[in-house]
Amino acid sequence: MKKIVAIMGSPRKSETFKVLERTQKKLDEFEKTEFEYIILKEKNLHACVGCFNCLTKGEEYCPHKDDRDLLIALLDNADGVIFAVPNYALQVPALMKNFLDRLAFVFHRPRFFNKSFLAIITQAVYGGDNIAKYLKEVASFWGFTNAQALVLTFLPETNDRTLSEEQKIENNISKAVKRFHGVLNHSKNMVPSFGKLFLFRLVRTSIKKNIKNTLKDYKYFNENGWFESSYYYPVKLGLSKRAVGFMAEIIGNYISDKKKKELAKKE
Ligand SMILES: Cc1cc2nc3c(=O)[nH]c(=O)nc-3n(C[C@H](O)[C@H](O)[C@H](O)COP(=O)(O)O)c2cc1C
Repeated sequence: MKKIVAIMGSPRKSETFKVLERTQKKLDEFEKTEFEYIILKEKNLHACVGCFNCLTKGEEYCPHKDDRDLLIALLDNADGVIFAVPNYALQVPALMKNFLDRLAFVFHRPRFFNKSFLAIITQAVYGGDNIAKYLKEVASFWGFTNAQALVLTFLPETNDRTLSEEQKIENNISKAVKRFHGVLNHSKNMVPSFGKLFLFRLVRTSIKKNIKNTLKDYKYFNENGWFESSYYYPVKLGLSKRAVGFMAEIIGNYISDKKKKELAKKE
């Protein structure tokens, strides 16, 4: 049975939570899953202090000892992950933002490959599309495969929605769940897009050339065999993708050499 982990970032168990419950119910109609709710407010997750330890030395050097690793383990073991948030001042609420900050090292050392991602945003008026874009971008950097997000606009705490309003919400949840279920069952190790491939090759070239081999990012890429591999995971690339990968490396090398020369001149 597939495991779904839903991270709920509202400070209260209300509209967003109810949408999440409806999402689980709908998903059950497609496929029975092990569905775990993580209510961020109930977790012990201190605010990032900006020490840079996780980014440079490694996440194990974070000064906080709290629920962060427990949450990461849940994501590591999931087949699908949902981040559900209300729109707060055109952004995710602080609870979710702190969670993302605490996991910021995953931008440097992506790990959630072959896992589907769904962003759910509830809002009263406007701004949810940008939040969806933001969460999908974060998820993509972290390795997830994105399904199209679900953005629902309705007034909070009203029991007097018209039947057609209620039907619209139900239809939107159904459509989002159908798409998420599709991604959940996509074949593993999908061929990356040109953009993702280009970025991977550019990043790995820059890590290989620019950073000390004692630093965590270098070690992580090295241990995963990413300095030699085609992509983050085994995949067969066609001719055009191989050419794009090659070009990215040439550009990466050029940028790194230029930077080194400029630094040498300064010294
Ligand atoms: C502090 C705060 C800020 C909000 N900011 C926005 C906003 O910028 N745009 C919007 O459309 N709705 C905004 N809302 C409305 C909520 O996003 C919306 O009612 C949401 O469904 C509430 O979800 P919840 O019940 O899970 O907290 C805001 C609500 C609060 C409490």
